[in-house]
Amino acid sequence: MYRSYNGLDALHLSLRALGIGPGDEIIIPANTYIATLLAASYVGAKPVLVEPNRDTYNLDPLRIESVITDRTRVIMPVHLYGQACEMDNILSIAQKHGLHVVEDNAQAQGATFGGKLTGSFGICNGTSFYPGKNLGAFGDAGAVTTDSREIAESIRRLRNYGSEKKYYHEVVGYNMRLDEIQAAFLSVKLRYLMEWTREKQKLPPGIMRNLQR
Ligand SMILES: Cc1ncc(COP(=O)(O)O)c(C=O)c1O
Repeated sequence: MYRSYNGLDALHLSLRALGIGPGDEIIIPANTYIATLLAASYVGAKPVLVEPNRDTYNLDPLRIESVITDRTRVIMPVHLYGQACEMDNILSIAQKHGLHVVEDNAQAQGATFGGKLTGSFGICNGTSFYPGKNLGAFGDAGAVTTDSREIAESIRRLRNYGSEKKYYHEVVGYNMRLDEIQAAFLSVKLRYLMEWTREKQKLPPGIMRNLQR
């Protein structure tokens, strides 16, 4: 897990680390928060919206292939309302067409698909620890999750002014580091995430909606 200043930065850094840029297209569910689209816009890529599945409100795998073009580079599933997307179908479409998958896991920390945690399927994935999220910090906070050493190194560099070694700046980076105070706060709350999630799951849907506001 590589910490970033917020969830939008985590998604932006993920796309930068993958080298996504102008001329590229990114498939995004039409039902998401603006941050998913902004991440695509920030790197100069074109967000291509796909209508969600009517039952889950998440990205509908059946509608993905019809919008794939020779410019498509990434599929960004967004696990909304703590509910995992159909990752098996999404991953097989991505594999078939040679596309990256970057999950937006801002609303689903602790959710699973087929026993595997969301945020662990894509080549790299962004999440948010905004105070209202499942795992909320004391202020803005976010992170990228990846199994790729190369992407991890790139993200660490990009979030720190493009620098690995002090005063050596190899790429045009950003100031997107996470405040230590947020990290300290999160590391305590993380211990309770699964327990609190189980408690929330027992609540009626109306109460959950009010809690999320
Ligand atoms: C689905 C989704 N993606 C991305 C974000 C962006 O996170 P942040 O507000 O930490 O930048 C949010 C929350 O705000 C979100 O709900």
